[in-house]
Amino acid sequence: MSLAGKHVLLIVAGGIAAFKALELIRLLRREGCEVTPVLTAGGAQFVTALSLQALTESRVYCDLFSLTDESEMGHIQLSRAADLVVVAPASADLLAKMAAGIADDLASTLLLATDKRVLVAPAMNVRMWQHPATVANMGILLARDVAVVGPEVGPMACNEFGPGRLAEPPQIRDAIAALLAPLPAPLAGRRALVTSGPTHEPIDPVRYIANRSSGRQGHAIAAALADLGATVTLVSGPVAIPDPAGVAVHHVETAQQMLAACEAALPVDVAVCAAAVADWRVADATNHKLKKAPGAAPPALVLVPNPDILATLSAAGPRRPRLVVGFAAETDALQHHAAEKLRRKGCDWIVANDVGGGSGIMGGTENEVLLVTAAGIEPWPRLRKEAVARRLAQRIAEALT
Ligand SMILES: Cc1cc2nc3c(=O)[nH]c(=O)nc-3n(C[C@H](O)[C@H](O)[C@H](O)COP(=O)(O)O)c2cc1C
Repeated sequence: MSLAGKHVLLIVAGGIAAFKALELIRLLRREGCEVTPVLTAGGAQFVTALSLQALTESRVYCDLFSLTDESEMGHIQLSRAADLVVVAPASADLLAKMAAGIADDLASTLLLATDKRVLVAPAMNVRMWQHPATVANMGILLARDVAVVGPEVGPMACNEFGPGRLAEPPQIRDAIAALLAPLPAPLAGRRALVTSGPTHEPIDPVRYIANRSSGRQGHAIAAALADLGATVTLVSGPVAIPDPAGVAVHHVETAQQMLAACEAALPVDVAVCAAAVADWRVADATNHKLKKAPGAAPPALVLVPNPDILATLSAAGPRRPRLVVGFAAETDALQHHAAEKLRRKGCDWIVANDVGGGSGIMGGTENEVLLVTAAGIEPWPRLRKEAVARRLAQRIAEALT
């Protein structure tokens, strides 16, 4: 794939291999790829800002606290303006900062603020690469969906031999091209329905029953299905995150409204019910605020069951989506409850996650799920919710095509 018209933010960190970043820039520029360079203080010990500027024909960004740079392009904007963020070479130090979420200079702050994929090309002494700290940091970064190219095995500048050499510039260029290649669109022409977020069940005009769902997982699934070419309707409960791009979003509050919006979206090829729909609503929600009368007992809330959206879609007769995927949020006996839910609801797959106290999953940015299908139970590693979404969308594409 040609890189013409693409835009890479290239962070050059402090390592002996930093000179190879110049060759990488030459390769990218030759194809018409725009490169904005960022140089760490360490990197500046090995290559000059002038070389980077001459080769990229762009301003070189070095300082976080630079009035000039901030007025020209703020650091948040800089972190998002490119199609891809590439760190080459990636020093052990910068990888450690990325893993720990440290943002104490321009490069590390950009890496924390970016909403783009990040590709790192590590380069360091073999013992630094094999040190348990670096190994652990790389494990964290891989789980967060950071892409990695290299390092290569070979003789090193420090006269040692082993893994740690920066991948060659053509190899880094190919990794960039692979990440920027348009995704195949196996779901083109398919329609998908996704539910996301919590529901709010009113008690009175100012109070409601809710849960801790953030909508991050459902929204990411809607975006991932759209990325694979599907026409996606997202029915979202009240959430504090933005609507995903390229998706038709219907905002609802209650379970009853969510069901009505889902039924209106049929027919679809696949429905993914990721919303944490309240099981019950208040039987006699009032349209006036309940008052606290001195000495009076608190009001007793009588709950009635909400409609079961997953079961309703699974039993929608001729309008039933070909594939119905439910989510099970459990705090114990995950496998047992998930397999039982699959049978009870009549859906095809269950994505089960443990939302117990210490998991940090409900409302968090990562998820660790089991995919339960008729074929069995598949544990997935702990991943960012976007990565879980991409994996699930890929599986849905395979099932539908
Ligand atoms: C001569 C020399 C070569 C170095 N080579 C590397 C290297 O290849 N990889 C690495 O991770 N660190 C290397 N370092 C150490 C880093 O430069 C140092 O950790 C620095 O703080 C990295 O800064 P940065 O991560 O902000 O770029 C080297 C240091 C020196 C003095």
